[in-house]
Amino acid sequence: MTPETPKDGTKADKTRGYGHGGVETVMSVDDVTRQAQALAADAPDRAALHALVDGEPLVTIEGLRAGYGKMEILHDLSLAVGRQQSLCLIGPNGAGKSTVLHSIFGFTNIFAGSITIGGTDVTRLSPNQKLKAAGIAYILQDNSVFPDMTVEENLWMGGFLRDRPAKAREAAERVFAKYSRLRERRGQRAGTLSGGERRLLEISRALIMEPEVLLVDEPSIGLEPRFIDMVFEILEDLQKAEGKTIIMVEQNAKKGLEFADIGYVLVSGEVAMAGPGAQLLEDPQVGRLFLGG
Ligand SMILES: Nc1ncnc2c1ncn2[C@@H]1O[C@H](COP(=O)(O)OP(=O)(O)OP(=O)(O)O)[C@@H](O)[C@H]1O
Ligand SMILES: [Mg+2]
Repeated sequence: MTPETPKDGTKADKTRGYGHGGVETVMSVDDVTRQAQALAADAPDRAALHALVDGEPLVTIEGLRAGYGKMEILHDLSLAVGRQQSLCLIGPNGAGKSTVLHSIFGFTNIFAGSITIGGTDVTRLSPNQKLKAAGIAYILQDNSVFPDMTVEENLWMGGFLRDRPAKAREAAERVFAKYSRLRERRGQRAGTLSGGERRLLEISRALIMEPEVLLVDEPSIGLEPRFIDMVFEILEDLQKAEGKTIIMVEQNAKKGLEFADIGYVLVSGEVAMAGPGAQLLEDPQVGRLFLGG
C-alpha cells in the first residue's frame, strides 16, 4: 500500500489513477485523496457554480450540511443545475457522492442548508413526497426491480407509481421498440435477467415514471462496454428527448463527463472543482487523478 509515486511530481507522466498503469506506476488511494484535497484549495464559490447553469436553476442546494446519525459527511455543499441539464459528480471513494443523491431524495439527516426544486423548498420532504410532489425519481445502485414480475410488468410499475397505467403501457411499448434486448425478454421474470439486462430495465423504467428530476447512482457499474453505451443512450434520451434533468454519480469519470453538461469533483464532502463536463475532461489534474492518465 506504500506509494512509490514521488511527491514532487517528477514522474507525473507515469502516474495513473485507479489502476490503469502497471503496479509500480499506480497512484495509491491515499495519494489520490491527498492530491484531490489539494484541488479544494481553489474551490468554486456559489457564483461560479451558478454560472454553469443554463437559464434558471431547477435544483439548488445551498450550504448543505448532512450525514448519517450525528456524523456530518457533506460540509457546506452547494449545487445548481438547470432544467434539462445534466450534472455528474465524480471523486474518490467515500467523498460523499452518493450522500449528495441521498440528501436530495431524503435519506440523510440534514443539519443545515436547503434544497429547492423549481423554487420550492423540499429539504424536509420524505422520499415518497419527493416523487409525488416534486417529481424526483432515484435509480438506486442495486436491485430495484420486482424479481417475480415480468420485464413488461416491471416497466408498467413505473407508471402505476404515478397512477397512469394507460400511459405506462404506451411508454413501455416505446421502450420495447427501441431496446430489443428488453423486447426479447418482455415475458421473462425480471429475477432471471443478467445484471446488465436488469440495469437496462431499471434505467428504462425511469422513462415511464416521468419524473422531472432523475437521480442516478453509478449507472455503468459492473457493465460491459456495449451495455454502458446502451445505458448512456437511455440517459441521453431522458435528457434530450424527454427533457429531464439528471444528477448522476459516475465512477467511470470519462463516460460521465463526456455525457454531462456540468461536472463537479467532490472531495471529502465538498465541491473541490466544477466546470462544463467537456472542460473537466480536458483538465490535466482531473485526468491524472480520475481518468487514469
Ligand atoms: N448509511 C450510512 N450510515 C453511515 N455512514 C454512511 C452511510 N452511507 C455512507 N456512509 C459514509 O459516508 C461517507 C460517504 O459515503 P458515500 O457513499 O456518499 O461516498 P461515495 O463518494 O458515494 O463513495 P463511492 O465512490 O465509494 O460510492 C463514507 O465515509 C461512508 O462510510
Ligand atoms: Mg457511492
